[in-house]
Amino acid sequence: MSFTYLRRTFTACALLLGIAVALPAMAQQPSRVNPTADSVKEQQLLDALKPGGHQSLEGRVSIPDHRSATLIQPEGRDWVVWREKTLPRLGAGVIVGMIVLLLAFFAVKGRIKVDDGLSGRQIQRFNSVERFGHWMTATAFIVLALSGLNVTYGRQFLLPILGADAFTLVSQWAKYLHNYMSFAFVLGLIMMFLQWVVYNLPMPNDFRWIAQGGGIIGKKHPPAGKFNAGQKVVFWVTIVGGVLLSATGYALMFPFYSAPSNIPDYTSTIAGLQSVSMWHGIIAVVMIAVILAHIYIGTLGMQGAFWSMGTGKVDVNWAKQHHSIWAAKVIPKDVQGKPTPAE
Ligand code: HEM
Repeated sequence: MSFTYLRRTFTACALLLGIAVALPAMAQQPSRVNPTADSVKEQQLLDALKPGGHQSLEGRVSIPDHRSATLIQPEGRDWVVWREKTLPRLGAGVIVGMIVLLLAFFAVKGRIKVDDGLSGRQIQRFNSVERFGHWMTATAFIVLALSGLNVTYGRQFLLPILGADAFTLVSQWAKYLHNYMSFAFVLGLIMMFLQWVVYNLPMPNDFRWIAQGGGIIGKKHPPAGKFNAGQKVVFWVTIVGGVLLSATGYALMFPFYSAPSNIPDYTSTIAGLQSVSMWHGIIAVVMIAVILAHIYIGTLGMQGAFWSMGTGKVDVNWAKQHHSIWAAKVIPKDVQGKPTPAE
């Protein structure tokens, strides 16, 4: 037996001995974990899973984003109920309610006519930049409204008609449109705000206009400036609602971006984003209803109104009837005095 052979045998024995001692110690490793620690409390997990349970359950993660440790977030169940049941019912009530109201109004009142008939003489009401801003906002809003309604009602109403493949394609494109048209909507809002805010500040004659029901109830046409009190309401609902809709929309489009993930704030938590999505839905539903009323009055509801946004010009008699204070300022003196011929 050589010395080298002896040395190798001795080293192998030492290694085997080392492993034999280390193995039981390694096997004991899990017992170092505290079995009563939060992360392994099974009862807590079962409690959180109970219907109506409001205990959130967090595990532990070593990556910087602590949100990934959320195992159960009970508010999520409330949010699903809101999104699947409450919002669709609220939306249907408000939007269908407005359509029924407008149809009833049309049935009772008919079209609001120009009392003296159209004169055939026109004056400029909106220039091309104003009309461009309006139609950009309007187009974007209609696309946003339809693609948003698809998120809430699509699965219920469109999926059975289109089938899964076509509905998936439609929804995917609707989502792209919903994201990208938001930028045109915001730009249009800014344009409308800058161009029209001066005409939409409250004036003493607005209270008279409201007291007389805007001339819709009764026969009189209360005096009004470039915009009457009803239009000022539409303007401010568009601006304030539009800003809130955009703010909540972008918070949802860029989730958790508002603050670093380790600083808790409204839009950096899952629960915060759930309430942001709730407000986005409520504001959208209210705005859709208001804009439906606006579209009605701008088209079917009032003779001569559409062309102010279509060509930018309105009939002199229309201007005198609906916006007498503004008309007195803009209609040339020679036209003012002359009786205008009926249609
Ligand atoms: C098919 C859709 C639409 C039609 C036919 C329409 C029609 C009109 C008309 C005719 C006017 C001018 C009224 C006047 O001369 O006194 C107007 C003004 C206005 N529109 Fe629209 N519009 C539509 C969609 C929208 C949308 C989607 C928004 C906002 C999201 C909007 C916001 C406004 C605002 C703020 C004004 C000025 C205040 C007022 O007249 O109520 N419009 N629109």
